[in-house]
Amino acid sequence: MSLKWIERIEYMITKLGLQLFGTAKKNIKENRTSERTIIRIVISTLYFLWNAAQTVKRVCFDSEFRSIFLLQLINSRNVHQTTPYTYMDRYPTIFSACSEYLEGKQGLKILSYGCSTGEEVLTLRKYFPNAQIVGADINKRSLAKCKKLPVDNNIKFIYSTPSEIQKHGSFDAIFCMAVLQRKPHYIKSKGISSLKKIYPFEKFEQQIIELDNHVNKDGLLVIHFTQYSLCDTEVAPRYMALGNHNQNDYLTPVFDKNSNLIKNPPPQNSIFIKI
Ligand SMILES: C[S@@+](CC[C@H](N)C(=O)[O-])C[C@H]1O[C@@H](n2cnc3c(N)ncnc32)[C@H](O)[C@@H]1O
Repeated sequence: MSLKWIERIEYMITKLGLQLFGTAKKNIKENRTSERTIIRIVISTLYFLWNAAQTVKRVCFDSEFRSIFLLQLINSRNVHQTTPYTYMDRYPTIFSACSEYLEGKQGLKILSYGCSTGEEVLTLRKYFPNAQIVGADINKRSLAKCKKLPVDNNIKFIYSTPSEIQKHGSFDAIFCMAVLQRKPHYIKSKGISSLKKIYPFEKFEQQIIELDNHVNKDGLLVIHFTQYSLCDTEVAPRYMALGNHNQNDYLTPVFDKNSNLIKNPPPQNSIFIKI
């Protein structure tokens, strides 16, 4: 048989396989809510096995998925936002406002809390050419990428634990950008109105209290892209907003101190001065 024929047969078998698989998937989906208990149980078991197989496959072959999966498994108490999504100069207006406020201050120390793969730290170097900058993240895969970046001696990357941060502090500015939140797009798409089970207010507040301990007087605490507001936490009386830089561009839901959805929320401030 010629090679062409073998390729054709292979193609037809693959196509047939995909079609059969598609039909089976459709049947399973349609029978998921069947009135017969036994069918429901069988279908649910198939669903469970299918999802488990998909997860195992991703854990084995997708290193980003694996790092997030392990983070949630081993460090779920400490992790906030799990995805490492980031890019250079993501918040230019905020960075400019902060560098203007801190201009002329000597011996600046800055923390990028949740620095992901390091783009935020590289960006901060441009806005604060002489500062000591510490990037902290809880995802070891992201940190490994950070550690390969060509940076100067005044930049350090550390694994985020309270004691490590304490060792490198205190700071004139802490940037905590797109960290204190959980699955914002999923929550929006599902119309979820309480974050209690997914990311309760208390977890956010506890983190803010911890960061507050490392901010110098007159220093900045920048909390941007969050599902809650610093103004609702117990440290609020120690801070005042710098200008009216806010989360107008945060297009996903925000919540109150009872972890309940706020409908039509006023814009939340992002840059705070410790008074
Ligand atoms: C969406 S990324 C934000 C990256 C960057 N700050 C930005 O705004 O582009 C969220 C990052 O927060 C990190 N993160 C989550 N919990 C953390 C924690 N407890 N300490 C430090 N980093 C954390 C995640 O590993 C992830 O890299």
